[in-house]
Order: sequence, then structure tokens, then C-alpha cells
Amino acid sequence: MFMYIIWSMETGEIVQIFAESGYQVDPQALEVLKRSSHESIQDMIKSIDSSVLVVGKEHLRAHSAAAAVKFREPAKKEARPVALIAVISDITNQSTCIGEYTDFVQYFKHRYNLLGDMLRKRISGRPIESLKKRNLNTGEQVSIIGMVLDIRTTVKGHRLIELEDTTGTIPVLIHKEKDKELFEQARGILLDEVIGATGTLSIDGNLMFANKIIRPDLPNVQNIALERKKAGGKAVFISDIHVGSRTFLEDAWLKFTDWLGDEISYLVIAGDVVDGIGVFPNQDRELAITDVYEQYEKAAEYLNAVPEHIKIVISPGNHDAVRQAEPQPRLPEKITRMFRGDITFVGNPAMLDIGGARVLIYHGRSMDDIIANTPGFSYSDPTRPMIEMLKFRHLSPIYGGRVSIAPEKKDHFVIDLVPDILHCGHVHTAGVSRYKDVLTVNSGTWQSQTEFQKRMNLRPTPAKATLVDLATMEYRILSFD
Ligand SMILES: [Fe+2]
Repeated sequence: MFMYIIWSMETGEIVQIFAESGYQVDPQALEVLKRSSHESIQDMIKSIDSSVLVVGKEHLRAHSAAAAVKFREPAKKEARPVALIAVISDITNQSTCIGEYTDFVQYFKHRYNLLGDMLRKRISGRPIESLKKRNLNTGEQVSIIGMVLDIRTTVKGHRLIELEDTTGTIPVLIHKEKDKELFEQARGILLDEVIGATGTLSIDGNLMFANKIIRPDLPNVQNIALERKKAGGKAVFISDIHVGSRTFLEDAWLKFTDWLGDEISYLVIAGDVVDGIGVFPNQDRELAITDVYEQYEKAAEYLNAVPEHIKIVISPGNHDAVRQAEPQPRLPEKITRMFRGDITFVGNPAMLDIGGARVLIYHGRSMDDIIANTPGFSYSDPTRPMIEMLKFRHLSPIYGGRVSIAPEKKDHFVIDLVPDILHCGHVHTAGVSRYKDVLTVNSGTWQSQTEFQKRMNLRPTPAKATLVDLATMEYRILSFD
């Protein structure tokens, strides 16, 4: 005999659960939900698009359909899929910045608007100035969306985050005892990121006591999967070759290029192709080739020897011969003409369609700032700051840190489209992880430990390449040392 259990949840409880995730529920959906278990309601919430404000019956039906979706069907085995690369976004030839005060105002406004729009799909933020004018009942929950203007710790050890929108500023207090998880989350908040805060107000409306902080973050896994194209081919991700340095590992590099065989369609390089000149004090002592153009000629020799069927993408890093302010344009023609003609040169950052997969390439200099300002982060695990970038929906939030940000009209660091792969380098440690079905690849380096790294006690993981099957997103980190 079968026993049917009818779950009966209280209306208030259901409304509360949805409200905590930023959704309202319409009465018809509520009737359906009353017969659902707590667990399945949580599953449904995960499947709802973050752009939805009021959940209706149609969204619950979409949940059932999404549950049946087979996310990643591997492509049929082909001898060698046609290699296709298209640039989706890139700063090259789009730079507008002169560096005047008004450029900065426009740049930050664009950042606030794009990231604020992502947050507005989940919470309805009130203008900060309106909180001070209205006589709000104490205890009423209000939400705001703002850019982090200042972060302080109070005498009693609480966190005080000042948020700014286009109307004003307000300090937001995160109590160290009331909600330890929230307090821990607040320790990772960075200057100039855009966040949402929900909480109650002081009687004069001049201080918020937060009980929830949200970041723009990625949509739910199911929604990411539904938007994805079918991809194919095998791609190899590398970065930080540093040709021209005495510590460039030529033997390992030649072993790597010998290994590049028929099954590989793409080679993606996330910056620091050469070691450059004058990048740090006394760099000349560490150089085998002291002329930057000769460094590129040597790099071109190495890369031109890669099997012809492999399509190569090159994005610059802070050691390359382009402007240091980010976003950086692609390498200049004087350099690109040294390389074979079929290489795709892009700026930093750049989003590309590679074999049907969206690949966001960013050299990763902002990781210096993210690691320095986030308790518990270190250079030994580069994927943690990369996952934070996906949560910020921004590659380099801190202004005034190690990254020199050029105030372009558009904020090219905003992660507008969700990538399949986020590929970085810069920190010289290899690591791969997944966050909400986005693969984060840091591809290490082809340079052994430098004198500078010895002094800083940084241990690189050189001569690694990450091989990704774009059809399945399965990966392997290969060693060539
Ligand atoms: Fe590097």
C-alpha cells in the first residue's frame, strides 16, 4: 500500500522563503506551493530566473521542465571540428578616455547602472536620499543598492560599510555578533563594488542595520545552461610565457608545443607573452633578451611553430608592450605583424566565442588587489579571487589599487554576459575550479621562480597547460616540466 503525504506549508512561511530570495509570489502560485515540501520549494527558487520579480504558475512549470533538461550533451566525436573564433567584446579601437574628471564620473555611473540593474531584478532598492526624508516606522525592512564608498571597523568591532547611489550615501552597520555568516560575508566586501543591502533604519534614517547583503552574482545554474550554445573542439589555455626572461623555461615550452597534436583546435593565451622591459626595478638583470621587440620576435618564432590547424588567441598582460592602464588594447601592428597571420589578437579583457563557448579572457592584475583585501585569500589558490569576480560581476572593482583603471565611457570590466570559461593568468599559479557551472581557469606560467618572487616568497607552478573539452567542459591540467 502506498502512502501519499500531502505537505502543507503555511502561506506566511512560503511568502517569507521567497521574500528572502528576493521574489514575491502571486496567489495562484501560492496555492500550488502550499502542497509542496520545503525542499522542493528551495529547488524551485534555485530554478527561477533572477530577473523575475513576481513568481507565477508559469515559473513553477518552467522548474519542472528545467529539471528534465539534459545540460551538457557531448558533441559527436569528430576527427577535427572546424575551428571558429569570433570576438564578442574588446576595448581595441573603442577607447574614449581622455582622463578628465567627467570621464571618471561617467565611468562609475556606467558601472553603477549596469550592476545596479542586475541587483534590481532581485531587490527593489530605494534611493538613499529618500530614506532620510521619510519618517519610516522603526523595524520596517528596506533595501538599497549602492557602490561601496568606504569600509571601516567600529571601535566595538562591527563592520561599517558606506554605500553610495546617485542620490546620496548611508553607512550600513553589520553587527559582529547578530549574524556571524553575514559578518563573515561582509569581511570580503571590497571598495567600489556594487552591492544590495536589506535591513532596518535608525529613527533618523541616517544608519542602516543590515540583515542581508547581496551581490550581483551569476544566475542559477539551470538558467545559465538554458542560454548556452552547443560548443565543440578542444582548447588549451596558457598564460605568462615571459619570453625574454632568463627564467623562461624553453625546454618545457618545446615539450609543450611538440605535444600539441591533431585533436587540439585552439590555444588561448591570457597575457604576458614576453617579460618586457622596465616593468619592475632592475629587471634588466633578469633578462636574457633586453630589447622588447627582439623578445616578441622570439615569441613569434615559438608561436609560429605551433601546428597550423590550431587557432591561437593572444590577449596582453602587464608585461606586454601596450598601455598599462586597463582595459588594454591588443598588441600594436608593429608587433602583431611578426606573428603568423591567422592569430586573433584581442585586448585585455576580451570576450570571445571559441568553438561555440563563451570565453572571457582577463590577465588578472586585479587579483593582487582582491587577494590583499580579502581575509584568507592567497596566491596559492588563484581560483578563489576569480570566483569573487563572478560574484561581483566585475573583473576589477577596486579603484586606486594595483590596477590602473582608464575611465572609459563604458565599464569594460563588468561581466555582462555570463561566460562558459573565465581564463586568467598573472599570479603564476595554476588552478581550475567551477562556480555555478562556469569554469575558472588560471593557467600558471612558463617561467620558473624569479628573484622578485623569491623575495616575496611566491611559489609559481610553471609549465602547466589546461586542456578543456568545450563540448563537455571536462578539463585536465597537464605538466610539461
Ligand atoms: Fe606574468
